[in-house]
Amino acid sequence: MIFVTGGAGFIGANFVLDWLATTGEPVVNIDKLTYAGNLENLASVRDDARHTFVQADIGDSAVIAQLLAQHQPRAVLNFAAESHVDRSIHGPEDFIQTNVVGTFRLLEAVRAYWSGLPADAKSAFRFLHVSTDEVYGTLGATDPAFTESHNYEPNSPYSASKAASDHLVRAWHHTYGLPVLTTNCSNNYGPMHFPEKLIPLMIVNALAGKPLPIYGDGQQIRDWLYVRDHCSAIRRVLEAGRLGDTYNVGGWNEQANIDIVQTVCALLDELRPREDGKSYAEQIRFVQDRPGHDRRYAIDARKLERELGWKPAETFDTGIRKTVQWYLDHPEWVAHVQSGSYRDWVLQQYSAQEPA
Ligand code: NAD
Ligand code: DAU
Repeated sequence: MIFVTGGAGFIGANFVLDWLATTGEPVVNIDKLTYAGNLENLASVRDDARHTFVQADIGDSAVIAQLLAQHQPRAVLNFAAESHVDRSIHGPEDFIQTNVVGTFRLLEAVRAYWSGLPADAKSAFRFLHVSTDEVYGTLGATDPAFTESHNYEPNSPYSASKAASDHLVRAWHHTYGLPVLTTNCSNNYGPMHFPEKLIPLMIVNALAGKPLPIYGDGQQIRDWLYVRDHCSAIRRVLEAGRLGDTYNVGGWNEQANIDIVQTVCALLDELRPREDGKSYAEQIRFVQDRPGHDRRYAIDARKLERELGWKPAETFDTGIRKTVQWYLDHPEWVAHVQSGSYRDWVLQQYSAQEPA
């Protein structure tokens, strides 16, 4: 069996469902249930004996040690993190606590457990750390995409905290021999994405008749990957990745934010036309830019393809259509995540913003 941390969040929950469907191997899912953790994401496996949910903090060493001793996992996959760049700008403390201190404590608990395993289990054990392309910083328009050997040049409190966690994971391998793997993935999108992030925010705001806020000139570029493809990449790296190595994961799908939002609007125009017959694109508003906004991310995922044979299965056209349809089919999920604390965030982030 395996441990997944952060498995009630967007990627973690998609991973748990995908893992159970594809491998059937039991999972212990450890999640603190912050504002981003949502047990509704796991409703379909609530009564599944292969899924055990535990509400806990990765930084709670005693609880993590007890869970490791009790369940004896063959792998720990660390998705748990504070993940939203804008929140990290308003309040970096939680990012340091979870992404840096939490990862450190998790590594220490795992190292103690792993050290005590019998030789066979010890050599088969893996710690897989789920990280981001943002640790590499930003690219100019004509720069080559990020490879695994690109310098770490994080620019936001979020990416700095993720970079720190990647360095800890690397050091625990080099110093203690902990069998680690790290994945650095580009922007994910898909079902159960919390509507503070660009794509789901645009879908839910459009449907609610609200403005669609584009930061700055909207020409920032991200490399979008359908979340199920990220899940398959993680499964493949866990299965066959070289110990201590990092693997970039991306969709070969660079797009400017404004183009992403136009695509979302066009799909909504087709699937749920506005009653007044106008396009959702009329709701687009350019607002003040994100401080320190990285201009362009692009992932070179050739290592993962060459060494482990992974390629994304979804095109952006098919993935974004599925995603928009999922939000149209799940209005109750959207209503439930738009809780009091979410409303407070939206007020803080967007109400004071001047038009660009
Ligand atoms: P998310 O914010 O949707 O989910 C994070 C989950 O972690 C939540 O369920 C939350 O409750 C849990 N969590 C937070 N702090 C915790 C703690 N101290 N202990 C235990 N659980 C805790 O994030 P996501 O988008 O699903 O991202 C998952 C991971 O993937 C993160 O490590 C993120 O850095 C990385 N990543 C995300 C993307 C993306 O586009 N979303 C891309 C590349 C990498
Ligand atoms: O690149 C991987 C990263 O992608 C992950 O590590 C992060 O956890 C994840 O949140 C994501 O970070 P981004 O900052 O790229 O994603 P976000 O959805 O917040 O923003 C995407 C782009 O859209 C970015 O250039 C900022 C812009 N944006 C975002 C919001 C929320 C807007 O223009 N308006 C908005 O309201």
